Amino acid sequence: MTKFIVLTLFKEMFEGFLNTSIIKRAINEKKVYIDIIDIRDFSENKHKKVDFPPYGGGSGMVISPVPIAKAIDHAKKTLNDENSKIIYLSPRGKILNYNLSKSLADDAKNYILICGHYEGIDERVIEEYNIEEISIGDYVLTGGELASEVLMDSVIRLIPGVINEESLLEESHTDYLLEYPQYTKPDNFKGRLVPEVLKSGNHKKISEYRKNESIKITKKYRPDLFEIYQKNNNKNSK
Ligand code: ADE
Repeated sequence: MTKFIVLTLFKEMFEGFLNTSIIKRAINEKKVYIDIIDIRDFSENKHKKVDFPPYGGGSGMVISPVPIAKAIDHAKKTLNDENSKIIYLSPRGKILNYNLSKSLADDAKNYILICGHYEGIDERVIEEYNIEEISIGDYVLTGGELASEVLMDSVIRLIPGVINEESLLEESHTDYLLEYPQYTKPDNFKGRLVPEVLKSGNHKKISEYRKNESIKITKKYRPDLFEIYQKNNNKNSK
């Protein structure tokens, strides 16, 4: 089973995530295990302080390597896996994409996710524990909690049995085309009608129509993906 232990200073940020919809069901059905640990519980300071000013000056605070190391050791023990993969969510990391989520899901390892705040964490703990850094995009969040939720969500939905396999096959990013537009009731919304072909029952025509729409949308929003799609298709047709 894929297991995640998250180290954070803000456990409360995970309440909604763990108790809603597909993630809640996956946990209850034991498709995934998630535990949230408070880094402050591992502080040696009597006021539970974990962050201090950076050496060399500069603004903000840096989280000390000591409580993080203790929390990691504790998480490894809980997982009973000395080789758990440790990931620090950071804007400096490798960018998360579909292929990375898929490989994390396929590896089905034990993951320890570290959420930073303030100006980050002491570099030495990153070196000492061979921690990999992952970013969820080129922008800066106030902390790694949302990023760790994004990472877990994108991985958990790819674990076999968590969501309908058919919806995984057709979704955006699996073949470098974005998803085609969807329609449901009513047939007429403010004078905008559902495309006739979707009501025709002709599955071949519907699938051609959807493919064309996917191509149009990908060209418009993600010409970079479209280029990869074209390259792959030329290769396949040779
Ligand atoms: N923490 C702050 N910004 C982040 C980002 N873009 N990705 C991952 N973790 C972060």
